[in-house]
Amino acid sequence: MGNNIVLVGFMGAGKSSVGRILARRLGRCLVETDDMITAKEGRSIPEIFAAEGEAYFRAAEDEVLGLLALKRGDVIATGGGLPCREGRPEALRALGTVVWLSGDFDALYARALRGGERPMLAGRSRDDARALLRSRESFYSQAALTVDTSDLTPDQVAARIIGELRGRERQAAAARAG
Ligand code: S3P
Repeated sequence: MGNNIVLVGFMGAGKSSVGRILARRLGRCLVETDDMITAKEGRSIPEIFAAEGEAYFRAAEDEVLGLLALKRGDVIATGGGLPCREGRPEALRALGTVVWLSGDFDALYARALRGGERPMLAGRSRDDARALLRSRESFYSQAALTVDTSDLTPDQVAARIIGELRGRERQAAAARAG
């Protein structure tokens, strides 16, 4: 297994904000899958969805997954739908420790609506967005670690993740020492 930290979760979970803080505190690089796609395409995510549709975007995510296999020791913030297809949870697990930033639907939805244009929410009712989250939970829940972000700031989420990862490292070291 790779040694990256991979953040997954629904839109509004705080993957980018938490990723930035984690990278800074741990002295690692932050890689964002959406940024890899927009850099390659030379256009924004809403533009890609509008011009090419969702299937094209998901194919671009597949390409990105291939490139991520080269990453070592990074913090990887994924787009909200990236883990939610056949075979992808396994591909992410191969990259490192997968962390699910979970949360109550209401909290996630409110944050997602505040932060920029999101094609997967455009033209979807609140109930449809809730159903989308439900349909994705079985993918997100395959993460090695889950942090409920509903009542936490990104700083607090990052601190929890760091605490949890250090605890696990200590346990693994103790187990190795016998
Ligand atoms: C998507 C989430 C977005 C982005 C794209 C599709 C989704 O990322 O990848 O708009 O399917 O949930 P964020 O989770 O960062 O908003």
